[in-house]
Amino acid sequence: MRFSLVLTAMVTVSRSAEALYPINELAVTPAMGWNNWNAFGCSVNEDLLLSTAEKVAAFGLRDVGYQYIVLDDCWSAGRDKDGNLLHDSEKFPHGMKYVADRLHSLGFRFGMYSDAGSSTCGQYVGSLGYEKQDAKTFASWDVDYLKYDNCFNEGLSGTAKITSERYRTMGHALNATGRQILYSMCNWGEDYPWKWAQTVANSWRMSGDIYDSFDRPDPRCPCTGDEGYDCSFPGFHCSAMNILNKAAAFVHTSTPGAWNDLDMLEVGNGGMDDEEYKTHFSMWAAVKSPLLMGNDIAALDTKTLSILTNPAVLAVSQDPVGSPAIRRWRYYVNDTDAYGQGEIQMWSGPLFGGDQLVALLNAGNSTRTMNASLADIFYDYGPEGTAPEVNESWDIHDLWANRMDDATAQNVIDDTATNLTAFYYNATETSYKDGLAANNTLLLGKLTGTVAAGGAIETVLPRHGIALLRLRKR
Ligand code: GAL
Repeated sequence: MRFSLVLTAMVTVSRSAEALYPINELAVTPAMGWNNWNAFGCSVNEDLLLSTAEKVAAFGLRDVGYQYIVLDDCWSAGRDKDGNLLHDSEKFPHGMKYVADRLHSLGFRFGMYSDAGSSTCGQYVGSLGYEKQDAKTFASWDVDYLKYDNCFNEGLSGTAKITSERYRTMGHALNATGRQILYSMCNWGEDYPWKWAQTVANSWRMSGDIYDSFDRPDPRCPCTGDEGYDCSFPGFHCSAMNILNKAAAFVHTSTPGAWNDLDMLEVGNGGMDDEEYKTHFSMWAAVKSPLLMGNDIAALDTKTLSILTNPAVLAVSQDPVGSPAIRRWRYYVNDTDAYGQGEIQMWSGPLFGGDQLVALLNAGNSTRTMNASLADIFYDYGPEGTAPEVNESWDIHDLWANRMDDATAQNVIDDTATNLTAFYYNATETSYKDGLAANNTLLLGKLTGTVAAGGAIETVLPRHGIALLRLRKR
């Protein structure tokens, strides 16, 4: 047991920034963008995509890194007599190549959606059996990203071999086009993609669909994560905590170029409070899930903007080491909300420059003091507090302390902001990797204290709140 822990530690610590399983050169850090599904479902059209893209750019979200504008289900109108996919010309009057051209000219990349089955989940035509033809069509439209869903797969699931071959067929077809197309698998964790999808896709969904709740259970999402890998029905209506608790068992299988996808963000959709959205966003960044905004950007409010643009948290997501934070402990607590069991957790993981991320998560129902010892934070580096890092002292950087204030955020939304250099990191100009190498202070949060060798961090956390901290050797 100890031996395997040490081995895990070695893999985690010495991992290089190069992609280990390069199906292409994309997603060396988790993809960032916007997808229409969570806020708009099937109500899609050209104007929604293009007007959203304009706002994503205007609010500074493109330049902090949200580069992909992804169209989800319900865009097509079947096939022509030669089997070529047709777009719905009422929803997309100028066709898909036009959308791609407009998005490219605005500095974005264009994401498309199809399904590894006979139909999509919305019951539009799927790509099963048409992989080569559809990949060529997507390439001819200058598509940069494909989300590939799992509905109506004609029973071609149930073993990793069957499912992986079905998804690999499209991966090969995309590569054969010669165009760099990020491949985002969406098979909801069926047949355990974290065991095999690193050689198939750039990311894979690991659970049923998210919905906009922090922790409400729903019978349509029957697996909780407590049963580990054994989930025969991924379902949908999965809360943020439900998905996080499932991911905890296998999130270490993510690696540069190939990531566990915890599903699109719900930040800003109204079903969680500000602390809950901060927690949701922080944990998705900490475990290196792709970050696809899922809110209506035209209706964006100040709190949503200051979460989605927080440079110190985005620098965790886009960290060049590319090593997901790991859950070091989880305890149940008695103060539950209406939905049953409360819990507290501590996650940690390596960051660029020998720094260490710590997330203290209070999923209980009341404010509490929480602490994390260096021995636990570095547990996998040498069990029972034997790691050399435990005997160092560390500066503590709070990654939420410099969050943009509401007045500034309102100015951004009203287009009256003047100086935003204290809040925005322009990743279009300088990558997060280069910014971190240059010690750009925007990416480091606020220095709030120190922890002495052998010590522990203590912090007070609101209900459903998080402390996201960056430790740096003193
Ligand atoms: C689901 C998928 C969602 C969305 C939806 C569209 O299977 O997980 O993210 O794409 O289909 O119908």
